[in-house]
Amino acid sequence: MDQNKNSKKETKMFGNPMRIEMDGFGVTLRPHKKEELEKLAELYSSMNIQWYIQGTGAMTLEQEIEWWKHESEAKDSVIWAIVPDGSDTAVGSTGLHKIHPLWGSCTSGIVIADRKYWGKGVAYRAHLMRTFYAAEVLNRMTIQSKARVENEASVKALLKVGYRVSGKYDRDVFRQRYIDTYVLSWVHPGRAASLYPEGVPEELNVSLKLAWDALEVASDNVKYL
Ligand SMILES: CC(C)(COP(=O)(O)OP(=O)(O)OC[C@H]1O[C@@H](n2cnc3c(N)ncnc32)[C@H](O)[C@@H]1OP(=O)(O)O)[C@@H](O)C(=O)NCCC(=O)NCCS
Repeated sequence: MDQNKNSKKETKMFGNPMRIEMDGFGVTLRPHKKEELEKLAELYSSMNIQWYIQGTGAMTLEQEIEWWKHESEAKDSVIWAIVPDGSDTAVGSTGLHKIHPLWGSCTSGIVIADRKYWGKGVAYRAHLMRTFYAAEVLNRMTIQSKARVENEASVKALLKVGYRVSGKYDRDVFRQRYIDTYVLSWVHPGRAASLYPEGVPEELNVSLKLAWDALEVASDNVKYL
């Protein structure tokens, strides 16, 4: 087969569509559609959404389209629109970024921009799918993430699928006052022994167990669409 023929397709880096349904509530991850970007720009523009992320300004439709085009061709990131049951359009985005071609590492992020869908287990379900995809499709050994220390929901959702608080930035962000940011790391439980030839540190025991459980739950429940 002519490998070059396929290489063009491989540069399109929206994630494959997936769905998970658990306890009667499903979440779909799929590529963003151009026609939903206006609504997203409006939702993302709120400081209520940007409080714990990097944003300090409202988005225009043009900026969203530019972002969408950039992401559709990025070779080192994979993003999805988040569509929970009850919504017929994207309520946010999640993604894997800085996908290193050699080292098996990447970073992750999520924004649920429609606040009606907070606290319903959307992030948990999205993290299960994203982590499963990172391990099973992208062959990732580690995933690094960040969350403001006081962003309890974000920290909890990451811990639940096997991330661990591995570090902290002190007072690195100003939101009304200076706040701290956790670094959270996910280590593939099946690769830990080779990643730590000197012996897996005990402090990883809990997160590795949760990571195994998350991969198992995902394996039983994630469906590629
Ligand atoms: C942070 C965010 C992703 C959480 O998504 P979510 O779908 O509401 O989270 P979930 O419903 O899956 O809940 C995850 C955990 O947090 C808990 N939780 C939810 N809302 C909470 C709140 N306001 N305070 C404390 N804990 C909360 C849940 O109970 C759950 O824990 P549990 O399984 O132990 O019960 C979402 O609020 C968001 O996108 N916020 C804006 C952008 C942002 O902060 N992104 C993350 C940047 S790191």
